[in-house]
Amino acid sequence: MQRLQLLKDSFFGLDVVQQQVVIGSAVALAAGGILLYAAQRRNKVKTIPIGEGWWGAGEKTSLSEDKKVYPFTVKTSDEEIKDLHERIDKSRYADPLEESGFQYGFNSTYLKKVVSYWRNGFDWKKQVAMLNKYPHFKTKIEGLDVHFLHVRPPHRADQKVLPLMLVHGWPGSFYEFYKILPLLTQNHSGVAFEVVIPSIPGYGFSEAPHKQGFNSLAASRVFLTLMERLGFSQFYVQGGDWGSLITTNMAQMKPDCVKGLHINFGMPPRGFKVLLSTMIGRYLPFLVGFSKEDVRRLYPYFEKNVWETLRESGYLHIQATKPDTAGCGLNSSPVGLAAYILEKFSTWTDRKNRDLVDGGLERKFSLDDLLTNVMIYWTTGSIVSSMRFYKENLKGDPNKRIDSKTEIFVPTGLAAFPHELMHCPKSWAQLRYRNIHSYSFMPRGGHFAAFEEPQLLADDIIQFVQKVEKL
Ligand SMILES: *[C@@H]1O[C@H](CO)[C@@H](O)[C@H](O)[C@H]1NC(C)=O
Ligand SMILES: *[C@@H]1O[C@H](CO)[C@@H](O)[C@H](O)[C@H]1NC(C)=O
Repeated sequence: MQRLQLLKDSFFGLDVVQQQVVIGSAVALAAGGILLYAAQRRNKVKTIPIGEGWWGAGEKTSLSEDKKVYPFTVKTSDEEIKDLHERIDKSRYADPLEESGFQYGFNSTYLKKVVSYWRNGFDWKKQVAMLNKYPHFKTKIEGLDVHFLHVRPPHRADQKVLPLMLVHGWPGSFYEFYKILPLLTQNHSGVAFEVVIPSIPGYGFSEAPHKQGFNSLAASRVFLTLMERLGFSQFYVQGGDWGSLITTNMAQMKPDCVKGLHINFGMPPRGFKVLLSTMIGRYLPFLVGFSKEDVRRLYPYFEKNVWETLRESGYLHIQATKPDTAGCGLNSSPVGLAAYILEKFSTWTDRKNRDLVDGGLERKFSLDDLLTNVMIYWTTGSIVSSMRFYKENLKGDPNKRIDSKTEIFVPTGLAAFPHELMHCPKSWAQLRYRNIHSYSFMPRGGHFAAFEEPQLLADDIIQFVQKVEKL
């Protein structure tokens, strides 16, 4: 109290000019401080709170979770196959319109051919044996049995082994990565990957959440726990489709654990800068940081991005609103399920496939591979829970979600495939991903990059990781 009085006295003891100098300096100092604080805040690595969750059935009973990792084997039975065949035999088809190709959806005349192969040529038992050629596991996280593959590279003395998680999307599965896996576990200039491939909860062999709200943030937290449980404190992550959002969320939650993020699907951000660059980018691309290739892929903007998105996103609207209604039919009819899933493998590989009588399906994929992916949904009955992931992620305004407002500071690589659903120029990606180490215009390929162009994607992941490792 006395000291305060003393201070006050000495302050008022100064003359007016001296007082003004003192006040002026104090204001300048405060302003400087605020600016410095703001500058530091801008550069500060912001993260998303990890949070917590529990998605098991009913009340959460035991407090401590079983943290053991159990080997898992994909199995089938004669009954499972007999049931499939009976349902296939009872399917009803509506004739396609004349000359319509895939414009109205899956051409049912061609569908009959696919189904006939499924019924008479496709050997599920053989495919199950093939699925089991890599080691599968399950472990309980947040009340759910989480399925994953964990593949180590062959042991070599002078080789650096880097952990890498690959995350699939919809309507894909862990199987999308079967061709890229051996390319990544090989030695490349002394580097090889130890690969972990989980199934998103509600997809394939991962248990479906029993409670509402399981979105990409929850999936991301579950996968971070999985990596921790496997003993990895630092690792790379890669994904397309939902996988790109989940891996991005992982980088936002634990930037210290994610050494690098590689995605083959960049969602164009929204906002004034994007709107403005969309409008002037065609005429003054250099002003907004567009390359010639960006211009080629983006314009005519209305046709390629607005109209195309409307034409192709009906499924999204259904799945983001009433997934259980449409899902009920798909979960009862293998033929309906195959049409629904495989139509995406046609159009999302190349939109021009809509004009082909057979949707161009077998140009890039074999029926064995396509039907194996369908069978992962069919035998696990997971189509409904896989569709619900849209609802959980699109419940509120996606632009208001914490992850869309959080920048990403971990080293990022983006592989832009020419037939991807939407093109995201580097200058747009940079608005969110603040540390892009590599951005590649891929020469060919579409949405299912790992499934369609495993070598191209593997090469891009490897060059990205080599760039990051050299730092
Ligand atoms: C559907 O596909 C078959 C080939 O399987 C083709 O002959 C037929 O013309 C196609 N129908 C339409 C409407 O495109
Ligand atoms: C890994 O590849 C590099 C060159 O790419 C080679 O020098 C090295 O000997 C290889 N290591 C093994 C164990 O094969």
